[in-house]
Amino acid sequence: MLPQARPQKLVVLTGAGMSAESGIETFRGAGGLWEGHRVEDVATPEAWSRNPDMVLRFYNERRRKLLAVEPNPGHRILAKWEKRMDVQIITQNVDDLHERAGSQRVLHLHGELMKSRSCGPKEHVMTMSDWEMKRTDRCPDGYPLRPHIVWFGESVPFMVHAFPIVEQADCVIVIGTSLQVYPAAQLAFEAGPGVPVILIDPNAEELAVPGARLLSMTASEGLEALDAHWFGA
Ligand code: APR
Repeated sequence: MLPQARPQKLVVLTGAGMSAESGIETFRGAGGLWEGHRVEDVATPEAWSRNPDMVLRFYNERRRKLLAVEPNPGHRILAKWEKRMDVQIITQNVDDLHERAGSQRVLHLHGELMKSRSCGPKEHVMTMSDWEMKRTDRCPDGYPLRPHIVWFGESVPFMVHAFPIVEQADCVIVIGTSLQVYPAAQLAFEAGPGVPVILIDPNAEELAVPGARLLSMTASEGLEALDAHWFGA
């Protein structure tokens, strides 16, 4: 049963499934492979020091794909809601589809694909204008650049901001994440006592979040259903 009242302080946790309908493969949906490599073997500091060209190729290809796709109806509904209620998105996704749909309040836990970061002491973060990052690229201080992504084995600095946001929500929606990657997955269990948690995922039955209301459907279908329920669209 969905909560009747429209939330006042909504937090939406999104994962790769949120962007699946835009044509971006999920991690575990595609068997988690890239060029035969496990994503976990490409997206690490060790891979970066061992074979930076391979890592740059991996992220350049993902950027090229990202620039070729558009936000889906689910992204657009969340952006529309932001104009009508207090909505904060916390995403594991590194794509910019929430922002391209018009969402302003988006916290990226695992970094951003369209940004680069300096390997120098100041760790400058810069927005990229195109898909390609090259070994010869330099930051303003002359240091090489790396993708602005949180790799496996690296700490997730924005978790400290994410916990209080979830704890203060009066409704939490979890969309398109298999809840297998920690610490991000922990957020799905941090809603306050009695706060409704809604899971939107075609495989929602398989995700064990105690007391959650399940919408076993795609991101767009689930958000369209909630939009009709709360706004009578
Ligand atoms: N709508 C909603 N959910 C969907 C859809 C869809 N159209 N298609 C697939 N899903 C669901 C799948 O059922 C699965 O539960 O999305 C989830 C995707 O899970 P993962 O591929 O594991 O992605 P995610 O949970 O975001 O991965 C977490 O792992 O590889 C790392 O850093 C990477 O941020 C990523 C993290």
